[in-house]
Amino acid sequence: MTANQPENICLIGLMGSGKSSVAPLLAELLDMEHVDLDKEIALRQGRTIMMVFADQGEETFRQEEQVLLQHHCGRDGMIIDCGGGVVLAAGNRHCLQRNFTVYLKAGLETLADRVGTGAGRPLLQGDGPVKDRLAALLAEREPLYRECSAIAVPTDDRTPAEIAAEIVSHLPASLKPAAQ
Ligand code: S3P
Repeated sequence: MTANQPENICLIGLMGSGKSSVAPLLAELLDMEHVDLDKEIALRQGRTIMMVFADQGEETFRQEEQVLLQHHCGRDGMIIDCGGGVVLAAGNRHCLQRNFTVYLKAGLETLADRVGTGAGRPLLQGDGPVKDRLAALLAEREPLYRECSAIAVPTDDRTPAEIAAEIVSHLPASLKPAAQ
């Protein structure tokens, strides 16, 4: 972690790592607002993420992702649920490093179980097993997830509530709820 006073919590990790299940729980526990960057992109574009990739291409999606990440990182008290590829852009990585970024880490078996057929996820489409695609993405991104995060929290065989509680126990002073 590079920031002294991080004001937002960012959740990163591969598809199926548990970000979307943990973010709302964390928001409730900490009485903070949470945003899901994918949902916001879909809303702004008026179409699903699959359609954005198909019609406008991944580059347009990545630009939108970057704009939204920078926007929310400029606010205070946000829980930002990031798409799995947010770490690909160097500018995003700097942004994540200035906040309290949590890498939700899951093993390949868990990720494959959770994403199933990969429906709704453009990078998991195509021939061959979904698990092989996940393995390639994990190999490419694991170092980036580590580079950007203050902590890594394992999510295999754990409930979202257990994961959220572990994150809360690691919060820096600037993000601890007043009562703690
Ligand atoms: C992506 C992950 C997805 C979504 C898009 C690209 C990726 O989000 O942003 O399909 O590059 O790993 P989730 O990680 O929330 O599924």
